[in-house]
Amino acid sequence: MEVLMRNTFQKLAKSRSANKLAKRYGLRFGAQRFVAGETIKHSIDAVRQLNASGRVVTLDHLGEFVFTEEEAKESASMCLQTLDAIAQAGVQANLSLKMTSLGLDISRELCMRNMHDILKRAQSYGNFVRIDMEDYEHCQVSLDIYKELRKTYDNVGIVIQAYLYRTEQDIEDLNRYRANLRLVKGAYKESPKVAFPNKPDVDDNFKAIITQHLLNGNYAAIATHDEEIIRYAKDVIKTNNIPNSQFEFQMLYGICEDVQKKLVSEGFKVRVYVPYGNDWFGYFMRRLAERPANVWFVLKNMFK
Ligand code: FDA
Repeated sequence: MEVLMRNTFQKLAKSRSANKLAKRYGLRFGAQRFVAGETIKHSIDAVRQLNASGRVVTLDHLGEFVFTEEEAKESASMCLQTLDAIAQAGVQANLSLKMTSLGLDISRELCMRNMHDILKRAQSYGNFVRIDMEDYEHCQVSLDIYKELRKTYDNVGIVIQAYLYRTEQDIEDLNRYRANLRLVKGAYKESPKVAFPNKPDVDDNFKAIITQHLLNGNYAAIATHDEEIIRYAKDVIKTNNIPNSQFEFQMLYGICEDVQKKLVSEGFKVRVYVPYGNDWFGYFMRRLAERPANVWFVLKNMFK
């Protein structure tokens, strides 16, 4: 039953028509728990609240299913406006983005142009941009673009997914770029030909790459709500005297608030991933797929 629900949510996340419909009706079904709001103002309000409790933020303007140059430009403009708003508000936040929303599926050149504009703007504010990792189809091209950008920019990082078999090799390869990596389990439905199908194997690989990347001496954003993985990371950090300046923990907006606050109280840097915008449906479906028990929460909200 759980597998069926997981597959259904993952399929819905990819449905263009469902996403389009949802966009028209605004944040619904309790999506507000995971998405800070539809406007930049909402997102900055959320950042202020999180900053006040000692947490820093990465802001993500949600945008999926971008198929025209116009849509890609609009999305890039929202990234620039987000960077401007962060600087104007003087809040502690950087930017996360998805390259498909900047036109990656239209042309690599278009996506590159948008990335250059965004990275230059971030650089002018002394800010940082993280490239989210999307499905396997986009993995190689995303890494290729990242490596190219990294030759020019210090303020760019990317995400690596523990569920992929190729990950250990990618981490070793990215070591040559002194890459700032966010390490995650992976949120997309992938074939067993490319990704571990079983959770224990993903968890083991996650632990292995945390160790590998930290011992390579590179910056790690350890992004998980899994307390066993967090415990493991803390052990590696302590045993190997990894300085606080080399890592941070990251969690998603609205998930495991208690764990976030506990880490802050222990003196760790915690960054919360705060998504905003009207293209919330795909993101929301991936959060439901991660934890089908969330569906009860959705049902409750439908009848409120
Ligand atoms: P796991 O799924 O095992 O969950 C551990 C515990 O956390 C659960 O038992 C539950 O208590 C809680 N939990 C987890 N997910 C929850 C949810 N949706 N609702 C309520 N509780 C939940 N993926 C990707 O492919 N590309 C990316 O760029 C990113 N970026 C990213 C940024 C940040 C900051 C985070 C935290 C995560 C991502 N992810 C991601 C998502 C990631 O791949 C993964 O799907 C989720 O983090 C869930 O995995 P956990 O590591 O939390 O473990």
